[in-house]
Amino acid sequence: MLRNPGLIGMVVVVFWIIGYFWLASDENPSPTSFQPEGHFKTFHAADNSPERSEELYNSLRGDMADRYAEASEPSVMGYQNWQRFNTAPYLSATHGDRFVNNYGNALAGDYTNVLTGAAMPAGAILAKDAFAVTEEGQVFAQSLFVMEKLGAGRSPETADWRYVMITAAGEVYGDSMGENAMKVTFCHECHQQVAGQDYLFFVPEAFRTASR
Ligand code: HEC
Repeated sequence: MLRNPGLIGMVVVVFWIIGYFWLASDENPSPTSFQPEGHFKTFHAADNSPERSEELYNSLRGDMADRYAEASEPSVMGYQNWQRFNTAPYLSATHGDRFVNNYGNALAGDYTNVLTGAAMPAGAILAKDAFAVTEEGQVFAQSLFVMEKLGAGRSPETADWRYVMITAAGEVYGDSMGENAMKVTFCHECHQQVAGQDYLFFVPEAFRTASR
């Protein structure tokens, strides 16, 4: 029996309003408003052909460069003009299941010499940018992963590699030689597996550029 229809009506309206805002704040991000919540948040990546991934990357790369530039990290300014070592973006499970590219500055040379055990010279910088693709085909810039070889003795605990992660919001998430260094200790812990190649994994074979 409805003794107080007015009150019930009010309760319904209140729930409707709460429900509306609940849905409005849903996780469905729009490509422009999205900021990653967890830095290793995993998207269900769409199954793209390399050609499609390259196309998506080309549509997004300018925006990615602008976002990372906000962090004002000098080591990776203009990294997209460096040599790229992969033929098309490839999925990297170890970097959050995102599509990634590998770039190296001039001092990094063609970075194949690490496969023979040679170490990188001080000043060599490798940058790996990343983006996520949803099943609906929406693309989102993700973090930029940086490794910079420092001068001998600068960082003995990381074999003189500096690790930096810059978010798509243009913030330094962690810098092993600066702010929030603890947040990026996991980088070297994993890269340690390939100590015999100067801690570099290199590009998966299927995506190496022809000269390599
Ligand atoms: C769980 C293991 C793992 C973790 C953690 C990890 N990496 Fe990597 N990294 C890899 C692998 C594997 C590759 C090569 C394949 C690829 O691109 O996914 C790689 C490649 C790279 C490269 C290109 C140079 C190379 O090794 O060939 C950079 C730069 C890089 N990672 C930076 C970082 C940074 C910065 C972090 C931390 C924020 C990090 N990585 C965390 C496994 C890892």
